[in-house]
Amino acid sequence: MLDTTALNQQRNFFEGQAAIWLFGYGSLIWKADFTYLERRPAYIHHWERRFWQGSHDHRGTPEAPGRVATLIRSPGAVCHGMAYRITPEVLAPLDVREKNGYLREKVTLTFVDEKGSEPEQSEGLIYLASDDNPAFLGEAPLADIAQQIANAHGPSGPNKEYLLNLATALRELDAKDAHIFALEQHLSRL
Ligand code: BEZ
Repeated sequence: MLDTTALNQQRNFFEGQAAIWLFGYGSLIWKADFTYLERRPAYIHHWERRFWQGSHDHRGTPEAPGRVATLIRSPGAVCHGMAYRITPEVLAPLDVREKNGYLREKVTLTFVDEKGSEPEQSEGLIYLASDDNPAFLGEAPLADIAQQIANAHGPSGPNKEYLLNLATALRELDAKDAHIFALEQHLSRL
């Protein structure tokens, strides 16, 4: 298994800043088990969420990997999530927890605000599992992805809990995500 911990600790895009915005688009939306200064619903442009990253250490095992969220580039798309303002030392444990292929990347995030007000933006970080990482599983028919998720379990719990919690959290944010809601539908039919 590739371990991205050391690589991430060199990816100090916000060196010297006392606080950083971290944008969560997967489990970080519904499970923030770290200290944060503030959290705000936000979105990023030109990215779409996909269950294309293998999970061998959290929601699956090396023998039967689960699937978890990553992002793919998609011009014009919008991906909703939750932004957390954190102090930099919060990143080190996340680097370890997400060491199976995720790398820190810099993005521009836009905060969801009162309708009619000027959108506020900030630079922030995401953890991205790109298609060249060894745990990347990539595209498959939605029915097959749902079946794999239904079967997989790992040290962090059943894979389906991850998908169902994510779908619930996105509905609470009033966010559209055809891929996630279609997978939820497939899962409910199994
Ligand atoms: C996220 O929720 O953004 C996330 C969580 C774990 C790994 C990568 C991303």
